[in-house]
Amino acid sequence: MGLKKEVNAPLIVVSNRLPFVLNRRDDGTLERKASAGGLVTAVAPVVIECKGLWIGWSGIFGLTPDTKIPEADPEDKAPTAGLLSSQVVPVSIEEKMFERYYNGCCNGTLWPLFHSMPDRAVFKADTWKAYSKVNEDFAKCTLQALRKTTQDLDSQGKSNVSPVIWIHDYQLFTAATTIRQVCDEENLRCKLGFFLHIPFPSWDIMRLFPWDDVILQGILACDFVGFHIEDYCLNFIDCCSRRLGCRVDRNKMLVELAGRTVHIKALPIGIPFDRFVQLAESAPVYLKDTDKVKVILGVDRLDYTKGLVHRILAYERLLEKYPEHMETIYLLQISVPSRTNVKEYKQLKEEIDQLIGRINGRFSRPNWSPIRYIYGCLSQEQLAAIYRDSSIALVTPLRDGMNLVAKEYVACQIKDPGVLILSPFAGAGGMMHEALLVNPYEIDDAADTLHRALQMPLDEREVRMKQLRHREQQLNVNHWMKSFLAAIGALVSDENQDPLT
Ligand code: G6P
Repeated sequence: MGLKKEVNAPLIVVSNRLPFVLNRRDDGTLERKASAGGLVTAVAPVVIECKGLWIGWSGIFGLTPDTKIPEADPEDKAPTAGLLSSQVVPVSIEEKMFERYYNGCCNGTLWPLFHSMPDRAVFKADTWKAYSKVNEDFAKCTLQALRKTTQDLDSQGKSNVSPVIWIHDYQLFTAATTIRQVCDEENLRCKLGFFLHIPFPSWDIMRLFPWDDVILQGILACDFVGFHIEDYCLNFIDCCSRRLGCRVDRNKMLVELAGRTVHIKALPIGIPFDRFVQLAESAPVYLKDTDKVKVILGVDRLDYTKGLVHRILAYERLLEKYPEHMETIYLLQISVPSRTNVKEYKQLKEEIDQLIGRINGRFSRPNWSPIRYIYGCLSQEQLAAIYRDSSIALVTPLRDGMNLVAKEYVACQIKDPGVLILSPFAGAGGMMHEALLVNPYEIDDAADTLHRALQMPLDEREVRMKQLRHREQQLNVNHWMKSFLAAIGALVSDENQDPLT
């Protein structure tokens, strides 16, 4: 990608999860399995090349600091395969603490709150305490790694180089507070960056959180902070001004706290576009009957923010209002199990199971059912084939930081392009202008939009899809990665030309 050699400093990535999955085999040994996310695809090669580090929760309990992380399998072709075990720092979290930190605070409180669904958020002092403690543990591991990295740089005569620490997402809002404090005390040099992968809510929502000031201060302990879109940046700046009384510049996106200036920027994440194109080109047919029926596709983690209930109701309305589509279409909903120990997620699974059962019972005919439902994970290859062969993608979250499914779908439209129906409440909704935008709460309108998409002529589909694909190809995940490094000053050349201008 031409980016790796341009990075001028070691990169230390800190995220809740490591970039691969660790499992304990029956004999107690650990096995390392690749995980396929776009973020990992873009970031791991840079960490490998600059001899950086990745700090994250191992995913299993009972690891001790001297547990050896296995090297990648020689057959492993994933982007993380070259990440040596010496470049991975597993953070161990005790099981009870993890329950309060992850299920409790991260996913029971911060996730719904930051998606502007405060009624679903539970505010509890003990889960917040666990969150703060785990964030401190992450910070301590990071500081240890930072000390070692700066010593190595010094011994190579590179005492002018500052390592870059890049913290990811809402699980780690307060880690930077400890890192900054210790760096100041010990005179350790580093550049601290943060990227939020979910929305940042408005002040009206943020102020409901009893420890909102601590979160804001945690983020402001960084030098540079990225959000997906400008709206989230402005929400954050507004909160800093109103809650902490910071001096802010909304045009230049600067926030000042205790004499330090923090730079804020919108950096919309993309996908590994070319990889999805290649998969779509090579993947065998997975849906065998698409010459007879059109597939309307939904792919989501099973999460209440994704608007699954509203979507399925809109599809039901389509069948009521436009019965001519019966037997010529079906809805294929793929729901990936997620956070299955959290009550809200368990309830949602029940609700969706029942809703689909009711609608299939209502409309099915001997040789046709309106909904096919997969609750599980598919491989990227299978997904690419399904994206390619589906006539419509229904991406209708109630709220979503960006939404990568919309982008993956358009990348895979390599022939007979389909139609993307997209919610304006996803970050992607503000950029993918050629999609059909629909308010997921307006069930009737969503049904009409589906009807329109099913009838859209080929030339209109082609024009829309061409534009959508061009944009996503340019603004791919490597572009995002490069923009972040440029913004924090870690690129040799600071050119960060927007490819669309
Ligand atoms: C969202 C978050 C990520 C998170 C992912 C999966 O995309 O922004 O930080 O990793 O969901 O959720 P999980 O709780 O399984 O890590």
